[in-house]
Amino acid sequence: MEKNRTLSVLFLKAYGATGLTVCEPLSGTGVRGLRYAVEAGAVGRLILNDISREAVELIKKNLEVNGVNAEVYNEDANVLLHRLRDKCDVVDIDPFGSPAPFLHAGFRALREEGVICVTATDTAVLVGRYPKKCLRRYGAVMFKTPFYIEAGLRNLIGYVARVAASEDYGVEPLFAYWEGHYFRLCARAVRGARDADSNFNYIGYVEYKKPYRKVVRRPGERSLGPLWVGPMGDPILVSKMAEYGPYGDFLQLLSEEYSVAAPWFFKVPEFALGGVSRGIEEALDALKKGGIYAVRTHMAPDGFKTEASAGEVERVLRIVI
Ligand SMILES: C[S@@+](CC[C@H](N)C(=O)[O-])C[C@H]1O[C@@H](n2cnc3c(N)ncnc32)[C@H](O)[C@@H]1O
Repeated sequence: MEKNRTLSVLFLKAYGATGLTVCEPLSGTGVRGLRYAVEAGAVGRLILNDISREAVELIKKNLEVNGVNAEVYNEDANVLLHRLRDKCDVVDIDPFGSPAPFLHAGFRALREEGVICVTATDTAVLVGRYPKKCLRRYGAVMFKTPFYIEAGLRNLIGYVARVAASEDYGVEPLFAYWEGHYFRLCARAVRGARDADSNFNYIGYVEYKKPYRKVVRRPGERSLGPLWVGPMGDPILVSKMAEYGPYGDFLQLLSEEYSVAAPWFFKVPEFALGGVSRGIEEALDALKKGGIYAVRTHMAPDGFKTEASAGEVERVLRIVI
């Protein structure tokens, strides 16, 4: 989780606010909150918590060793978050597994405007490898596609946006990515019925019929969703994060991905001819020559994002090399 924590520090730094009340209701060792306080230069009040007594002892020790001040609690995260109603600028939900059980309370702890961050390590559920559990936990119908990782990430964002709406918050994803065993999202949240309503402008379904994809408003036989089909992040904020140094190339790539509106990626082998597929560099080169803007994706080494349709991509990539 080092990368997750470092990127989160960069995110808070780039977000640009100071004196924030930050709550990490599932703190573990407290190292995440501690790093926010020491490295992000954004924290005014730090609230750490864990249900485990041993974890709380460790948090206290770590705070002392590092000379950091924080309020430390030993409660169920949901109880604490309800008690903090309307008090937090940032709530960071970083559990083992799904963040779903803590999301409603997370929004309740936010002020009128704030940031909600979530980590989900139940990636297999979110991408639909366990369809019943996915439906149960996230209310989404998922099945395997070449872009299943992005679909899983958008499933998580869609779920957060629907919970946000039920708590009267609108959300704007600022930073979202996939990394091996987890999905991560940081989103701005603004309270108000109109803001909450606008979440649904970006909730939709993706219809997939090899190799074609399209966004549809209503679910159908071959559709995944509901998913977040809007922007996954803010390219400007993420470019700013990239300037701070660590993970610069990764963040620059994310920034490019965020500027492509299509809520999926393609994989080069989808357009193989007679079983022969081009390499990613060669494919990107061919697309460029064919007048199609495409960028690599962090979600697959042989993947690319483009607003061109599968048909247009196919016409360019199926030309015999
Ligand atoms: C993934 S760890 C947190 C890691 C930490 N955020 C970090 O970045 O180092 C999840 C923690 O949540 C705690 N936890 C699990 N259920 C909880 C609950 N209902 N309320 C509060 N803490 C809980 C566990 O004891 C565990 O320490």
